[in-house]
Amino acid sequence: MNIILLGPPGAGKGTQAKGLAQKLNIPHVSTGDLLRQNVAGQTELGREAKNYMEKGTLVPDELVTRIVEQRLLQPDIKKGFILDGYPRNTSQARSLDRILGKIGTSVNLVMDLDTSEPVIIQRLTGRLVCKKCGANFHIKNMPPKKDMACDYCLGKLYQRSDDNEATIRTRLEVYRKEVSSLIDYYRQKNLLKPVVADGEAEVVLKEMVKLVEQINDSLKV
Ligand code: AP5
Repeated sequence: MNIILLGPPGAGKGTQAKGLAQKLNIPHVSTGDLLRQNVAGQTELGREAKNYMEKGTLVPDELVTRIVEQRLLQPDIKKGFILDGYPRNTSQARSLDRILGKIGTSVNLVMDLDTSEPVIIQRLTGRLVCKKCGANFHIKNMPPKKDMACDYCLGKLYQRSDDNEATIRTRLEVYRKEVSSLIDYYRQKNLLKPVVADGEAEVVLKEMVKLVEQINDSLKV
């Protein structure tokens, strides 16, 4: 099953993608994570991307598409994937179709995680991320068991540099500018399913699993 997660910053794309990936045993591909790895590794691509990410604007399509293509051509993608953070506009959506066409597959389901602005701000200003394994926590909603240490690998937790209120607002503006044409793109292909994502993480995940099962059943018919 090839799944795309859409939704504003803080909708829970990363959190839910990790849960779904575990349940479905398919890889989670996050362009944000791939870009941050490049920034941390000080690669040429990372150096180019860093400025855009810190401002909360989009990294140029050509750069992001290059890392997505490299990742989607890996053999583990054959069993399916959950794509989080890509595409962000219709040009990226068309590039994705082209890449998937190359490997003889296509998108099966696009879930749009709908979240309200106060929830987004609360979630992002309190988010903590593990430096070692990338797991997500939240100071209040999902606190780590030990202070500033990851529950899974004991890695150090940090706050993302783009999780301050000013940058979050820029990210939201950028998202809103592009999202309606992207939603139309997938609605026309009959792939779009909205998910109410303001609720508790486990409740949202259950709803998403239900949608995946429905699509799975329809693919078998
Ligand atoms: P990216 O890393 O993709 O950031 P984003 O889209 O802004 O999304 P977030 O990671 O902030 O939010 P999320 O929806 O994953 O929420 P999460 O699950 O972490 O991109 C960063 C930057 O990279 C972009 O700004 C851009 O510059 C660049 N970039 C990336 N992709 C690009 C592309 N395709 N093209 C161009 N540029 C690109 O949850 C947030 C918090 O809430 C966590 O603390 C979590 O614990 C908590 N939480 C989650 N769900 C719940 C819940 N149900 N209840 C309570 N708390 C919850």
